[in-house]
Parts: sequence; C-alpha cells; structure tokens
Amino acid sequence: MALVTMRELLQDARKRKYAVGGFNVFNFETLGAVVEVAEELKTPLVLGVPERLFKFTDAEVLSAAMVCAAQRASVPIALHLDHGHTYDGVMKAIRWGFTSVMFDGSNLSFEENLKRTKEITRIAHSLGISVEGELGYVGCYECFQDMNDEHIVKADVAADFANKTKVDALAVSVGTSHGAYKGNTELNFSRLNELNTKIDVPLVMHGGSKLNRDDFRNSIQSGICKINIATDMSSAAVERLKAEFAKASNGTNYINLMGAVKKGVKDSVRRYMLNFDCISKAI
Ligand code: 13P
Repeated sequence: MALVTMRELLQDARKRKYAVGGFNVFNFETLGAVVEVAEELKTPLVLGVPERLFKFTDAEVLSAAMVCAAQRASVPIALHLDHGHTYDGVMKAIRWGFTSVMFDGSNLSFEENLKRTKEITRIAHSLGISVEGELGYVGCYECFQDMNDEHIVKADVAADFANKTKVDALAVSVGTSHGAYKGNTELNFSRLNELNTKIDVPLVMHGGSKLNRDDFRNSIQSGICKINIATDMSSAAVERLKAEFAKASNGTNYINLMGAVKKGVKDSVRRYMLNFDCISKAI
C-alpha cells in the first residue's frame, strides 16, 4: 500500500480508538515476520529500529530493505527511528528514508530535552517527517525496582512540552519498563487519563512486553495510540531456536534457524496485535 508518516497512522488510531503496534526489527527475518503479520491481519504498522542497533548491524542496508518492504506492503507502514539519542543518529535515519523519528531526551533536563526536541522537530517537519518525543522515565531492565511515582510524567509539564516542541506523538511514562524485568507492572491510569485530556497529540506507550489484555484495553481507552514491543519478540525467537536445536539431534542448519526465528516472532507479533484493537484498521 504505502510508506506513510507516523502522524497519519496515529491520528487515525486516535480518532478510531485503537493502537498501532510499534515493533522493532533487527534483521531480514524479524522484518519479514512483522510485515507478514500486519498484512495477514490488515493492520497499520510502525516498523522501528532503535538507534542503539546501529552499533550491531549495518542499519543503512537494513533501512533500504525496510523502505522496500513498506513500499510493497498491502498495509500502510511508517518507518521509525526508535530511541534516537543523538542528532547524528536522527539525521542518518532521515537520510535513509525513515518517515518518522523519535528523539528521546528523557534522560536530559526538561529544558535541554525541550530545546533539542524542538530543533529536531523543526528540521524533520520541514522534510515532512513525523517526530515522537519522550518525557518522564520508562524503567529499564534492572532499574525496574527503582520505579516510583516521581517517574510518572505530570500532565501540565507534558502539555507544555507538547505545545512548545510541536511533536506529532509523545511517549509518556505511566509505569511501564523496557526489557525482561522481574516483578509486575502497575499502570497509573488516572494519570494517563489526565495526560490524554490535557495533551493534544497522540500518546505512546513504551515497554509494552509483558502487559496483559486489560492493561492494553484500558491504555487504549485512555488515549494510547501506539504501543512499542521489542523484548517479547526477541524472547519468542530465542525459545523457537532452543526448540529447533532440541529437536535436531543430528544438527540443523542456519536456514532452518532463520525459519525458527521468523515463526517465533510472527506468533509473538500476532498475539500483541490481537490485543491492540487494530485488526482490519488498515485503510
Ligand atoms: P519492551 O522492552 O517492553 O518490549 O518495550 C520495547 C520498547 O518500548 C521499544 O521502544
């Protein structure tokens, strides 16, 4: 169908109350898996690559494959830089054909985050590219235990940030964490509702792995328009690889392992999409 901006996708999600899945891909297998499930379920899609992946793979080549996959797909797809932390990383993604970039300045002071996000938004918008900003603190791996109310973003502060930066989407911390952490997540729905009332841009949830169906439903009802998933796709691929090794007593080959990764990721992505109310929403 088309390579589109994230802004278009999230505006529709907001209007029709569903969430677009923001799935991070790492290579050909994960890219193919995510696009195939989106086409099978007729869902719009945000295909992400985190800036930290640039160290591990040739992200320029991967981006070219993503552009090709999106242009050929039967559903609308936005190509998105996830967790861009540097100006250089954001500019590379723009040059490689991404239609959306995230600038994550959530570890900076409010003023510095505002200043840098505003500048990136000015440049990206002049090129027709969407921008996601982030405020607050989404827990991360071992830091999960340290999450407390102070990390949940305040609605007035977030509204001020969204107005001044002119971002197209805002990632807000309401209790989730990235990665395979121990413990349970408690989402702050009253804060999420307040954020949704005061902020005029679609809200994004990071750290979606491990949440349950009710968490997703309630989050979508409270204004979340994109939910990011990465950890569970990776874990599902690892589990499939283990099963492949276990059953292949005479050894296996790399092509079989590629198939195992793809199957694991497809099952995981399908499970999440079925919870996002996004089925058949591709227009
Ligand atoms: P998970 O680690 O919970 O899958 O979250 C991924 C994410 O938010 C990427 O931006």
